Amino acid sequence: MAVNSYEKPDFWSKKAFSQGYPARSVYKLKEIDEKFGILKKGSKILDLGAAPGSWTVFALRQLDGSGSVTAIDLKPLAKDVRAENLMFIQGDLYNEEVRHLAKSRGPYDAIICDAAPATTGNKIIDTARSAGLVELALYYVTTMLKTGGNFAVKVFQGGDQNALLTEMRKVFENARGFKPKACRSESFETYLIGLNKKA
Ligand SMILES: C[S@@+](CC[C@H](N)C(=O)[O-])C[C@H]1O[C@@H](n2cnc3c(N)ncnc32)[C@H](O)[C@@H]1O
Repeated sequence: MAVNSYEKPDFWSKKAFSQGYPARSVYKLKEIDEKFGILKKGSKILDLGAAPGSWTVFALRQLDGSGSVTAIDLKPLAKDVRAENLMFIQGDLYNEEVRHLAKSRGPYDAIICDAAPATTGNKIIDTARSAGLVELALYYVTTMLKTGGNFAVKVFQGGDQNALLTEMRKVFENARGFKPKACRSESFETYLIGLNKKA
């Protein structure tokens, strides 16, 4: 069976494992947080599309025992991702019960979303599904993020990113795209950042 580059543990995956993170994607959030300071000590964080949990672990470490993280994914978190101030909801972000449960734990100071659709290889379909997840994450933002709160969300490039940013500018004082260096060179993912939610 062919092994593609996504299955080979590269430098970043090895580094992530050695630092106690279950996936290399942690370095993307690290770059986002270093640049925009979205995860603050003592805050309440909602992590959408969280499995296996490297963003969750990074958020917990930033909180340093204070505040809380609520994480949601269709799949379970890696088994060693646990903490007293972590609540994990296994389910579909579109599901009403999941949304209610998430809302009951809010409102949140930051919402981070690394959710990605299962890819088909058809770029038009995959980008449209990714944009759908961004719209869904924006629903969580409008109903569960505090005024002044921050947001970071993954989106596949190639769709109408400008339309999503226009939507985000209605909700946030500041919204922009950001591609972390830790994204794989062959990857067409990028991130949209929303800062300081309007009242
Ligand atoms: C790239 S992974 C997230 C990696 C994670 N941030 C980490 O650092 O470990 C994308 C995740 O989005 C989740 N996902 C995609 N669609 C979802 C949905 N509708 N509801 C819940 N989770 C979803 C997938 O199950 C997958 O685990």
